[in-house]
Amino acid sequence: MTEFAYRQGRLYAEDVPLERIAASVGTPFYCYSSKALESRYQAFADALKGIDATISYALKANSNQAVIATFAGLGAGADVVSEGELRRALAAGVPAHKIYFAGVGKTRAEMEYALGVGIAEFNVESEPELELLSQLATSAGRTASVAVRVNPDVDAGTHAKITTGRKENKFGIDIDQARAVYGRARRLPGIKLMGISVHIGSQLTQLDPYRLAFARMADLALALKADGHPIEVLDCGGGLGVRYLSEQPPPISTYAALIGEAARKTGCRVVVEPGRALVAEAGVLVASVIYVKDGTAKSFVVIDAAMNDLIRPTLYEAYHEVVPVRQKAADSLERPVDIVGPICESGDYIAKDRAFPEVAAGELVAIKTAGAYGAVMASSYNTRLLAPEVMVRGGEFDVVRPRPSYDDLIGQDRVPAWIARSDDRLADDRHARERLVHLPKTGRTAKKGVA
Ligand code: LLP
Repeated sequence: MTEFAYRQGRLYAEDVPLERIAASVGTPFYCYSSKALESRYQAFADALKGIDATISYALKANSNQAVIATFAGLGAGADVVSEGELRRALAAGVPAHKIYFAGVGKTRAEMEYALGVGIAEFNVESEPELELLSQLATSAGRTASVAVRVNPDVDAGTHAKITTGRKENKFGIDIDQARAVYGRARRLPGIKLMGISVHIGSQLTQLDPYRLAFARMADLALALKADGHPIEVLDCGGGLGVRYLSEQPPPISTYAALIGEAARKTGCRVVVEPGRALVAEAGVLVASVIYVKDGTAKSFVVIDAAMNDLIRPTLYEAYHEVVPVRQKAADSLERPVDIVGPICESGDYIAKDRAFPEVAAGELVAIKTAGAYGAVMASSYNTRLLAPEVMVRGGEFDVVRPRPSYDDLIGQDRVPAWIARSDDRLADDRHARERLVHLPKTGRTAKKGVA
């Protein structure tokens, strides 16, 4: 990715040296390149030219409003999975009629909100959800446009935790039951059954699972049309993989050709929901080396970013390339190290047994391909402050989410009244005892040493 490249031995984000951002905001921080975001989006848009397709950015990959607004400015819709994401999409300028609401556990309140703002489509995942949506739409005097998410029972060939299209996964309605469900759903008031949706997993690097899933979806669409359902939309989900190490994800054009085929075969328009493929390569996480520690069995580079900032390595055994921000000489020696954070768990690592050049305390390192499922999955575990996010455009950068203060973080806690009361009681007791202790003239009650 050319947007993060060395110039005169310094790693840049577009035209800004990462060292300059570090000096301004401190480490760790996430840094996104607008140019990379735009070019990824453009690649999708170009590949889908000639197909009646909507790119509905899956916010879950990175829901910073600066990122959403970048895509919204290019015409993107949004795929959201919670009221929070829906609110973020609206706040960042995505019009409601371009918002698709997915998710296996939409609550009554979330559906009411979405009906109220008039989103494009609900991707419904179960019959109880359909029934509740029907009730809510009817009482709100609205009609909900619905695509039923079907589970096509296709193995995406990706990590078990991000595989979603097998029968044993919690997602969607079994494709074998779909016709019967559409048949029953037709009778529900307030529901307009207009589509089918499928999402089989994330970080797919093979096309065959897509080929199979889209073919099954297209066959179902034709069968439903024959049953008299006005199916007009195929929501093909997201999931296209990126290169973290040596993966060879299929070109977007071949993926788009499969989508085009399904659209042609069925006469439907399509929606795609890419997340990772739009943002992963557009972000890095920059950290400082705190210590280098040589043990007898292993050497550790301890940095100030940790599993709470980027959980992917420990959660999915994911690989992220790590590079020094000051480029090392081409012939500099490398040795195997674990690159770890300060959190008190052995699972807190960014890289394991990684060949890495000599670095010293204070040096900066960049963890690459961190734009997707990085900041959004961060937590404040160990009472660590969430890393700020910065966006670069050309020679400019701006903080798009500041680092919170410790007051922001700790000040969220509230001590319940009963603890406060018992604190008062203890204090009262203590005062009472102190008063007794300070009555030396009586002599009798002055018992020092009572805590
Ligand atoms: N649509 C639906 C219904 C989804 O469930 C997802 C992702 C997407 C679209 C976007 O998929 P993408 O294009 O980003 O692969 N935290 C994991 C990834 C979880 C993906 C969940 N669903 C990771 O860090 O690998």
